[in-house]
Amino acid sequence: MSTFEPSPASLRYSLLPARLDDLPAILRLEAEGFGPDERWSERSWSGELLGEGRTVLIARGAQPAGVITLSTVGEVADLHRVVVAPAYRRQGLALRLVRAGLLAVRHLGARVVMLEVEYTNLGAIALYQQLGFEQVRVRRDYYGTGRDALILRLYDLDTWPGRFGEAVRDTEADLRAERADVQLEPDLPVEAP
Ligand SMILES: CC(C)(COP(=O)(O)OP(=O)(O)OC[C@H]1O[C@@H](n2cnc3c(N)ncnc32)[C@H](O)[C@@H]1OP(=O)(O)O)[C@@H](O)C(=O)NCCC(=O)NCCS
Repeated sequence: MSTFEPSPASLRYSLLPARLDDLPAILRLEAEGFGPDERWSERSWSGELLGEGRTVLIARGAQPAGVITLSTVGEVADLHRVVVAPAYRRQGLALRLVRAGLLAVRHLGARVVMLEVEYTNLGAIALYQQLGFEQVRVRRDYYGTGRDALILRLYDLDTWPGRFGEAVRDTEADLRAERADVQLEPDLPVEAP
């Protein structure tokens, strides 16, 4: 585990499988991460938390820090959403969430991961590219008129991170997520980098 150097900008969190009672915290993250027109409803998030083949991981700190949700059907996983609270951004939390999510869906049998991202969301695109996602096509007006989506795909999840290994730091939490099929112990501490 990396050494934890407390600073105002580096905040502690635990990375865990989300439960239904995390719903209020997730909705708070959702409100902080997306505008009113883009926000997922409580019903949508309940569907993620209860749905078959879903992997939902939450980073819990003094306040909700971040959440990711993916679905897996056979060898294909879909990364539906990742959001990090503003106070925790640009400290590698999204990288950790996505990495842990990828390891979890790989454990469920996924070999390819797909996602859609709005083409103006340059931060998210940079994040996904850093992890090895590649653009496969553009879906016009996916988010509304003039708001196109990029469809990104990560191939060969079975050999991932491969050449992206250096860009992605191993963490004990990630490895535990892989081994335990994301059944992490409650309140396992993960320290912010
Ligand atoms: C996109 C988001 C999840 C990134 O979370 P984060 O924890 O700040 O991301 P990380 O710190 O792990 O960033 C990893 C890398 O992604 C890229 N990145 C992340 N945010 C960025 C930004 N705002 N601008 C440019 N690059 C960015 C960088 O390459 C970064 O590495 P660096 O900090 O060493 O330069 C966060 O900004 C967010 O929640 N946004 C609102 C919701 C959203 O758009 N979600 C994605 C679509 S579902």
